[in-house]
Amino acid sequence: MNFTLKVWRQKNANATGQFEEYQAANIIPEMSFLEMLEVVNERLVGEGKDPIAFDSDCREGICGTCSLMISGVAHGGQRGTTVCQLHMRFFKDGDTITIEPWRARSFPVIKDLVVDRSAFERIIQAGGFISVRTGQAPEANALPVPKDDAELSMDAASCIGCGACVAACKNASAMLFVAAKVSHLAILPQGQAEKDRRVLDMVQTMDKEGFGNCTVTGSCEAVCPKEISLDFIARMNREYASALFKAKFTRKPGSDGG
Ligand code: SF4
Ligand code: FES
Repeated sequence: MNFTLKVWRQKNANATGQFEEYQAANIIPEMSFLEMLEVVNERLVGEGKDPIAFDSDCREGICGTCSLMISGVAHGGQRGTTVCQLHMRFFKDGDTITIEPWRARSFPVIKDLVVDRSAFERIIQAGGFISVRTGQAPEANALPVPKDDAELSMDAASCIGCGACVAACKNASAMLFVAAKVSHLAILPQGQAEKDRRVLDMVQTMDKEGFGNCTVTGSCEAVCPKEISLDFIARMNREYASALFKAKFTRKPGSDGG
């Protein structure tokens, strides 16, 4: 298979980027999208040129680093699939493919197709944890979890933090990511101790990091490689309202309380 690639090249965060055109020739249909990029990079290196910078790690759909906008669609358009699991047979021979980094103010470009997603880390640091006693592992059945809750929590926990939801959203909203991270802990008994503080702190950090508002267009859900449901956003909004209400009516006299 042969493809024409239009790839975003940008030397660093402060440089002006531009598209450059490359030919991807003799590509095996079974190659992943990243392997195809490596074939192009080998040729560029052979010609003494700067290879295209892109991120990847696990290459099995679990780390979320292989985040690319492919012909305008986050992760390339194959439902429930990360870029590392997208194969070239998904495209037509002779296609022209545009490859860009995530476009969001909160995800500045580091180089070419690599963006800085540390804003997500700061949201997790704000509340994505539970308090547990250290020591011996507790007896497995000491804390029963209803099966439906365990499954719903696992659905939320499957978010890999790739940022496709942000890249696909016209407002660069991070609500789907934050809702997944808030929910997977809040649904379980182990996550109850920090439930209110968690949702308030994570949502406030999300806002501080410059992510936009959710207007429920569903573009995030459509591109999410783990098919995280919009229902988690509704769940988080209910939790946020409840936590705000409790904070307001349990504040100490004399505090500003918000
Ligand atoms: S919600 Fe989906 S698209 Fe957003 S970061 Fe998680 S896995 Fe990626
Ligand atoms: S490289 Fe880890 S999800 Fe693609």
